This record gives sequence, C-alpha cells and structure tokens, in this order.
Amino acid sequence: MRILVTGGAGFIGSEFVRATLERYAADEVTVLDKLTYAGNLANLDPVADDMRFRFVEADIANAEAVERALDGCAMVVNFAAETHVDRSILDPDAFVKTDVLGTWTLCQAARAQAIQRFLQVSTDEVYGAVLSGASSELDRLDPSSPYSASKAGGELLVLAAAKTFGLPALVVRGANAYGPYQYPEKLIPLHITNAIDDQPLPVYGDGQQRRQWTHVSDFASGIDAVLRQGRVGEIYNVGNPEADDTLPVNLTVTRRILELLGKPESLVEYVVDRPAHDRRYRVDTSKLLGLGWRPRWSFEDGLAATVRWYADNEAWWRPIKSGERHQAYYAQNYADRSAFAR
Ligand code: NAD
Ligand code: TYD
Repeated sequence: MRILVTGGAGFIGSEFVRATLERYAADEVTVLDKLTYAGNLANLDPVADDMRFRFVEADIANAEAVERALDGCAMVVNFAAETHVDRSILDPDAFVKTDVLGTWTLCQAARAQAIQRFLQVSTDEVYGAVLSGASSELDRLDPSSPYSASKAGGELLVLAAAKTFGLPALVVRGANAYGPYQYPEKLIPLHITNAIDDQPLPVYGDGQQRRQWTHVSDFASGIDAVLRQGRVGEIYNVGNPEADDTLPVNLTVTRRILELLGKPESLVEYVVDRPAHDRRYRVDTSKLLGLGWRPRWSFEDGLAATVRWYADNEAWWRPIKSGERHQAYYAQNYADRSAFAR
C-alpha cells in the first residue's frame, strides 16, 4: 500500500515516515512537501535510499501537483501546515493559504481519486485554553490565534467533505509534541539550543502556562493507530496521558533544561507575553487508548533524551540557527518583546 504523506519533511511528518517504513515492510511512502523554512530533507536522510520512498517538492495548494502525487496512493496523511503561533501573529495570511486553502485543495484531489483513507492532522489548540479538566472530541472549538483558527478551518472542511461527499476522512487533534528534529523556534528546541550557546532563554509572561508535552514518536504512533484502526468520520485526540502534575509549566521545563545541561538559572529571561496566549491545553485521550494505543515515553525521560539529542546533533541545528532566514525571524519575534525584570 502506498501512503501520501504531505509535510513529511517536517518534524512530526518525518518521524511518521521513518517509523512507517521501519514498521511495515509492505508499505511505500510518497512525501509531498513544499520545503518551507520548516521543511528539511535532512530529516528524511535515514530513509532516502529506501526503494519504497519517493519525494515530491510541491505545495498542497497546487492541485495539479497534488493529483499527480496521489496517483497510486491508497491513503493520505496531511501534516503539511504553517505551524508556529508566533509566526501566525507576524504573517497570518500564510496560515490561511496553507492550513485552510491548501487542505481544501488536497481534500478535493483525494475525493477525485478513490482514496481509502484521508487523515487530517489537527491540533488541540482548536479547543482554545482549557483551564481545568481535559477537552473531549465533542467539545466546542474556540481557537485563539490565526494558527489555531486556520487549523480549525482546515479540519472543519475535511469533516464537511466527509459528510457531503463521502470522503473517508479521520481527524487527529494532537497535543504539543517535542523530540528530535524539531525546528528550533518552538519552546523546547529553542531553549535547549540557546542554553548550549549560553544565550538567554525567553520566557513569555509569568511562564506558568501548561502544555501536554507528548513525545514525537508517541504522537506518530497515535496517528498510525487512528489511520489503521480508527473509524472513518471520527475525531481522535492524541496526547500524553500522564497526570497533569507530572507535566510541568513552561518555566519548570526551562529550568529542567538548564539543569540537564549544567547551565545557570541566570539565562532565564522574562519577556513580554504573546498576545492571546492560551494558558493551558489538555486533551482526554480515552478514545485513542480504546484503539489499543499506548505511549512509550514519560515526559521526564523524553526531555532528557531530547536534550541529549540536540547536544549530540549540532550538525543538524547549527546551520538552521545561523542561517539568515532564521535570524531575521528571531530578531522580528523577539525584538519588541524587550526583556523586563521580575
Ligand atoms: P513543521 O512546521 O515541523 O513541518 C511542517 C511541514 O509542512 C514542513 O516540512 C513544511 O515544509 C511543510 N509545508 C508547509 N506548508 C506547506 C505547503 N503549502 N505544501 C506542502 N508542504 C508544506 O510541523 P510539525 O510540528 O511537524 O507539525 C505537523 C502537523 O502537526 C501540522 O499540521 C501541525 O499543525 C500539527 N500539530 C503539530 C503539533 C506540534 O507540537 N508540533 C501539535 C499538534 C498538531
Ligand atoms: P510553542 O513551542 O511555540 O508551542 P505552542 O504555542 O503551539 O503551544 O510554545 C510552547 C509554550 O512556550 C507556549 O506557552 C509559549 C511558550 N514560549 C515561551 O515562553 N518562550 C518562547 O520563546 C517560545 C517559543 C514559547
């Protein structure tokens, strides 16, 4: 069976591709990726020579390219997206183009060819902040940022295509992922790599925001479980089911990173908060656990392993961080967040 994985050169998509080719000897994978700043062919190096792997450089909003890539594919997993909340505040249009319009273009092409399953990778951020308890798949959507609103728009179009046109679609709403190969703009890889270089670690607001940190390999195995065993037309949350109090607030994550690297607390730099910053996310994963999925990583072990991976793989992240494109973004995002003392 051939699977089309869009956005497969990114963080979670590449993990899914590497794991699928390792686990299923009879499967073949085509990755379609636009190679934006976040797409990196080095993430696919481990499978580059596999005869079952094919790469197409294209935009999911390009109908012709998508139709060609879909030829011979039985399933589609759509990871392709603009994914960073801070960038969605600086340049929201890119999010609407890819996460809404691109997703719709892909849906239309999949409808036209008899695709057996179309899995849309969405986010827990569509629920908005959840101050207590956990979001169930039936909860209302209340996105706060252009990123989460665009992701909500994309998944609603996928679900509408399932109802209206019979597209055999499934939706996964994932919690915050972390692990190897994550672009160093997101909290954990940014703070690890800044700490290695003795650079300040920017903490937004009071640092008391909480995320349901989920190891990328558990996130990818959750997607695999839904793709192969989930019921068409249904939504599944994916996230680390560890108890809330073992999943620390941002400031504690940052301090733990410093501790693991033997760096001083003085590297913490409190900066002006992100607008509309969601205080807490948490999803209820009972439905996914019901499919037999089990996570393999505790956050404590996963964070330590991730810190080690970045320390051992400078050749992967240094070229990204020293590149002009990344430095321009960093200056833009952090320049007007002048540091304030607490
Ligand atoms: P990422 O930013 O690391 O990678 C995104 C990939 O999509 C890149 O390879 C990029 O080149 C590609 N891409 C972007 N626009 C494209 C387009 N128009 N056409 C084709 N390819 C395009 O993202 P990630 O963290 O791996 O996230 C993957 C998916 O999972 C996204 O849909 C995201 O919304 C969702 N998600 C991520 C997280 C997380 O914590 N990272 C949590 C929940 C859900
Ligand atoms: P991020 O990794 O951007 O993921 P998301 O916003 O999608 O949850 O951010 C995770 C948390 O860390 C979020 O509460 C914002 C915070 N954060 C900082 O405090 N400083 C930073 O430099 C970044 C990038 C994020």
